[in-house]
Amino acid sequence: MNVAALSDVKEAMVTSLFSEVPAGIPDPILGVTEAFRADTNPDKVNLGVGVYQDASGKIPVLEAVKRAAAQWAASEDTKTYLPIDGVPGYNTATQELLFGKGSPLLAEKRVATIQTVGGSGALKLGIEFIRRFLGGDTVCLSDPSWENHRVIFEAAGAKVESYPYYDPKTNGLRAAEMLDCLSKLKRNTTVLLHSCCHNPTGVDLDGATWEAIAGICAERGLIPFIDFAYQGFAEGLEKDSAPIRMFAERGLTFFVASSYSKSFGIYRERCGALSAVTGSAKEAANVTSQVKRIVRMIYSSPPSYGAQLVSIVLSSPELRALWERELTEMRERILEMRKLFVSKLGQAIPGRDFSFMLTQRGMFSYSGLSAEVVRELRDRFHIYALETGRICVAALNQKNIDYVVNAIASALKPKS
Ligand code: LMR
Repeated sequence: MNVAALSDVKEAMVTSLFSEVPAGIPDPILGVTEAFRADTNPDKVNLGVGVYQDASGKIPVLEAVKRAAAQWAASEDTKTYLPIDGVPGYNTATQELLFGKGSPLLAEKRVATIQTVGGSGALKLGIEFIRRFLGGDTVCLSDPSWENHRVIFEAAGAKVESYPYYDPKTNGLRAAEMLDCLSKLKRNTTVLLHSCCHNPTGVDLDGATWEAIAGICAERGLIPFIDFAYQGFAEGLEKDSAPIRMFAERGLTFFVASSYSKSFGIYRERCGALSAVTGSAKEAANVTSQVKRIVRMIYSSPPSYGAQLVSIVLSSPELRALWERELTEMRERILEMRKLFVSKLGQAIPGRDFSFMLTQRGMFSYSGLSAEVVRELRDRFHIYALETGRICVAALNQKNIDYVVNAIASALKPKS
């Protein structure tokens, strides 16, 4: 090629490869945090994303996690790849947390568990496995559900439908309609259920409804997929896993996507697990081998750090006890804020009943605030929430609660 031809190539390359790429829409949850970060107002409050903030408004590193990190820093002696299914010991510790140490499922080796990149990674691996091996092309989500559920499942080629769940008129469940809808789903439909602390509403299923769902799933040949991102945030580690253990006792085979983001406060370490409860040790081994192939196809093998910290904490009686105390503290502080919030809202806005929020559990509350009110809170008061009206109660503290309550009272005043 001569010099003149080279300059022709340069001319031809002035059109960017990316000139036709449109701007993406901001993420409905993490986009709110981006806007919050960009806001320089000192009074700003982020009630958007589901992260725990302590009484001083900090997103803390738990003491148990700090101690595990110190141990790990002193003992890590290689940076070679992890096995495809993750840190040895982590998956067993996760199974014990989900199903209980003495569970016959574990003795029979019927659970296939694999370390994942957060709970989202578990959802992704689960749906990829379902699409390949179980013939399921449809996922049914609660209405409403976590915004990213639809995105993850649709991206894997699944058709996404919804079942009735939340009733804005009663601020409660549409249990009968939900059961009716589930009982009409076609075989092999994946049903995404929230084990506790339903995201976004905070409204959980009661034991009888869970039992009815288990019966429908068994009878209709549905694929239960339980999202368990908030273990320990409703009533405690054991009680919160009751639906999962009940499904197992009923002999159902199903998936669980679990996460340590919230319970260990290690959001950025992206640390979760996918568990498949299978019919036999052989099935579990086969499932593990296939999920490992899917991991290899997507990200090859998982990162190490968060899972090492979790393993260290869960295998040390002392650190585990400390972690459980810290988890209890988080749960109790959120509950305290929830009660205070409802009582202060009641005083500031006498005509409106917010007591339904007391029956909601976990980090979130579906507040019933309209998108318009949420926008006003952002624009006038620098308070950030989701436009669906979901607020993160775990972001409230003694210093910001009056400011938030007064802002809501002001935004709800009829405009003259
Ligand atoms: C949330 O719902 O706020 C959290 O689960 C964070 C996220 O990734 O959306």
